[in-house]
Amino acid sequence: MMEWTDRHCRFFHRLLTRRALLYSEMLTTGAVLNGDRARLLRFDRDEHPLALQLGGSEPRALADCARIGADVGFDEINLNVGCPSDRVQDGRFGACLMAEPALVGDGVAAMKAAVSIPVTVKCRIAVDDQDPEAALELFAQAIERAGADALIVHARKAWLKGLSPKENREVPPLDYERVYRLKAAHPRLTVVLNGGVGSVEDARAHLARVDGVMMGRAAYQEPWRLLAVDPALFGEDARFASPNDAAAAFVPYIERELAAGPRLHAITRHLHGLFRAVPGARAFRRHLAGAATSNAGPELLLAALSLVSDRPREAVDVAA
Ligand SMILES: Cc1cc2nc3c(=O)[nH]c(=O)nc-3n(C[C@H](O)[C@H](O)[C@H](O)COP(=O)(O)O)c2cc1C
Repeated sequence: MMEWTDRHCRFFHRLLTRRALLYSEMLTTGAVLNGDRARLLRFDRDEHPLALQLGGSEPRALADCARIGADVGFDEINLNVGCPSDRVQDGRFGACLMAEPALVGDGVAAMKAAVSIPVTVKCRIAVDDQDPEAALELFAQAIERAGADALIVHARKAWLKGLSPKENREVPPLDYERVYRLKAAHPRLTVVLNGGVGSVEDARAHLARVDGVMMGRAAYQEPWRLLAVDPALFGEDARFASPNDAAAAFVPYIERELAAGPRLHAITRHLHGLFRAVPGARAFRRHLAGAATSNAGPELLLAALSLVSDRPREAVDVAA
């Protein structure tokens, strides 16, 4: 998620779930081909399984970027056909490509020919005054024909004019039934539902009708929820017994990274929502916020963790 997630965030999320597939934020083909590639594509091998999301529409550039992504070790290449920002529209990619399924199909085919890892697409149910029944169907046919390994559908329209990207994640209504119908009509296509999934329990309910679920804001804003992914969805033990334990396990990574340059806040900003409805959650956030204005090291995180209980509010009735 652009502006929000980065490699530090992904490393931390991986401490919360071994099994969830993690995605990079969208990187444009121009940035991958002409930018500081080593920095943009950097990740820690502990982040696997990890997908690289590309923004672009020119099949040759997409194929080149897919090859670069596969060569540096990403596990999947995903094409963004969901972002409605003006900048992205000016570049003729993102959500406006919902109106150009043949071009997206050519891009997918070019990437498939270039790499042996899965190539997937993330889209909306439609844009503007498109009819979601027809538009999503045509789109899915094009990418299935081109060999896409999965289609992730953000279950709402995007309005390309008049709504900001933020409004485009909130205002158009969610239509999960449309995504369920897509799956029913394309039994061989892996269909992943996205949009408004607020908990792992909700994700589990959707899994009765689709092949996968992608969580965005809930995963970022309340990362503690990810501890439930492995037990609830994969039948495995959680990686750590509590968010507190997972955060403590983040400390060696933080020490390593601080020695190489970034300030503590750049890493710990992803932990602000780690505790919700437990005693001390607010004190934890407040203490952690101190990282923004100091040159503190990981001891600041450990001190913040000492202020918070691992027990939920029902167990200890103290204001958080
Ligand atoms: C700050 C922010 C940045 C985002 N950046 C991306 C992005 O780079 N690529 C993408 O496919 N979706 C991006 N999204 C959209 C989310 O991936 C997701 O589709 C959307 O928020 C709906 O899912 P949710 O309700 O689970 O958050 C972004 C969302 C937010 C809030």
